[in-house]
Amino acid sequence: MDKQGGESRRITLHAPEDFAGMRRAGRLAAETLDMITEHVRPGVTTAELDRILHEFMLARGAVPATLGYRGYAHASCISVNHVVCHGIPGERVVAEGDVLNIDVTPLLDGWHGDSSRMYVAGTPSTKARLLMDVTYEAMMRGIAAARPGNTFGDIGHAIQSYAEKHRFSIVRDFCGHGIGRQFHEPPNVLHFGRPGEGPVLKPGMFFTIEPMVNAGRPEVKILDDGWTAVTRDRSLSAQFEHMVGITEAGCEIFTLSPAGLHKPPYGA
Ligand code: MF3
Ligand code: CO
Ligand code: CO
Repeated sequence: MDKQGGESRRITLHAPEDFAGMRRAGRLAAETLDMITEHVRPGVTTAELDRILHEFMLARGAVPATLGYRGYAHASCISVNHVVCHGIPGERVVAEGDVLNIDVTPLLDGWHGDSSRMYVAGTPSTKARLLMDVTYEAMMRGIAAARPGNTFGDIGHAIQSYAEKHRFSIVRDFCGHGIGRQFHEPPNVLHFGRPGEGPVLKPGMFFTIEPMVNAGRPEVKILDDGWTAVTRDRSLSAQFEHMVGITEAGCEIFTLSPAGLHKPPYGA
């Protein structure tokens, strides 16, 4: 979501029984991302990938939450190379070496799943591979900091410090978000920050961690379609997104891949 989301509302504390609904929605998001892996190859269009994703979610009894969301008309966001996020599926033909983020959001029995991963058509450049590895690890370090008593600033700091250590930059214009019965709700989950700052994490909070990391500068611009966010310097950008629920002991990741397809290369 964009950083303008209101922080005035309170952060929902979900009941223990609400974890079951999120587990199912999150698992479906992960299965959808698993399923699409073999379809990402040179020659396919992003519209075709979106059609396959859409059919899969419908067949599992879910509706893509993006359909009709603020006028968005597709089942997924597919962001290629220097597209940071919210890439609109269309007639673009995927080429050898392209790196794609695919983001899906199935709404299943009233609960939202939301997850994204990177994919490669063919073989990535050394730089693209490093960017994807660092972005994945940054997300996982943020998740490792997601436990009761820590703050959202601890999560942001873990992500930012790891990405910047590798001389990459964190996009500031988009953030993670609370999720559950709503697609986007408080808080904004920043992917940068300082230890100890921000709200304290409590059991029952459900939110996404979805860092966007650029190989060059952090600035983005939105294209005339009103959605597509690209790096201003046209440098490569990568993103991964997991959805977590805070437990007494730490957190549960709702969107783990059942097939073990966490990051590229998948089965190469
Ligand atoms: N899935 C995106 C997120 O993680 C939101 C996409 S909204 C859309 O927050 F309208 F662009 F699809
Ligand atoms: Co999200
Ligand atoms: Co998403």
